[in-house]
Amino acid sequence: MTRIFSGIKPTGHMTLGNYLGALRQWAEKDQHRADSLFCVVDLHALTVDHDPARLRRLSRQGATLLLAAGLDPEVCSVFLQSHVDEHARLSYVMECVASDGEMRRMIQYKEKSVRAQASGQSVRLSLLTYPALMAADILIYGADEVPVGEDQAQHVELTRDLAERFNHRYGHTFVVPRAVLPTVAARVMDLQDPTAKMGKSHAATAGIIYLLDEPDVMAKKIRRAVTDSRADVTYEPEERPGVANLLEILSACTGKEPAALADGYEGSGALKADVAEAVVELLRPLQARHSELCADPGYVDGVLREGAARARAIARPTVDAAYRAIGLLPPA
Ligand code: TYM
Repeated sequence: MTRIFSGIKPTGHMTLGNYLGALRQWAEKDQHRADSLFCVVDLHALTVDHDPARLRRLSRQGATLLLAAGLDPEVCSVFLQSHVDEHARLSYVMECVASDGEMRRMIQYKEKSVRAQASGQSVRLSLLTYPALMAADILIYGADEVPVGEDQAQHVELTRDLAERFNHRYGHTFVVPRAVLPTVAARVMDLQDPTAKMGKSHAATAGIIYLLDEPDVMAKKIRRAVTDSRADVTYEPEERPGVANLLEILSACTGKEPAALADGYEGSGALKADVAEAVVELLRPLQARHSELCADPGYVDGVLREGAARARAIARPTVDAAYRAIGLLPPA
């Protein structure tokens, strides 16, 4: 059976980008078609400036939102990365397979290190080695497929390279995984700056729809979305990124093609009103389920405990095999 692994970083409140680009596929399709593991990758959240109390809150909220989005612990595993030691154990080995140059070429490293330096923060070494941990996340489970938004495709490509290199040098150990991107909304853009990805760690929040925003806050952010000086509605992603982003969000909510949707509008005001309504309706059940789950923290804890136990059982033999293959003697 196909195995799927994917993860989400608790570095900020989850966004519509996370939902449309990843979570929704996991809940609606992936968990039902494969043996799936979904992880709140809390160790990754330590790669940038962080506050321990906030990280604890966001990790719990992240796990709760995965369940609220529809992940069913009866059919898939949901857990926290730091509860499964094998992630860190294999990450070090991946650092010994990857090169410094490969890590420095990663777009996210370049962008985030520039941002950290611009705000006067030092760049954590773990930000550079991040893709080694991400490769370990995927390889320890022998995942065939990794459903992610477009921004993570480069990291999954690197994971493939590292798996192939390890297998070639030390003998076949890892499944070589592939990224699976959504057909629409693979890259939801910021409503205030439609040339930038809608990202949960961005400081300016007016262009970001958070999954737990109040409905009227979401609607206001969408009504104020930056478009352009033209009054009509056409789908031209290169020339008109703001309008295209709204059409793509509506397309993801309705299942209709963005270009066909554009034909139905004379002006962007009506488009924005429909996008606002569609997004609010799309997220309503998730928000209701989130409130219910918050009232039952013991349930979420139980799901995470069982998810981690199952994850460990899969990961352990793979990491042990990788340690042996690379020349580390097993304990007597
Ligand atoms: P993260 O936490 O940034 O995002 C989680 C998922 O949401 C997708 N996503 C988006 N999709 C469309 N439009 C957007 N604006 C948008 N923003 C985020 C991401 O592509 C991702 O699928 N490095 C990963 C976490 C990770 C991981 C892994 C993923 C760590 N180890 C192993 C898969 C497998 C990350 O930072 O995702």
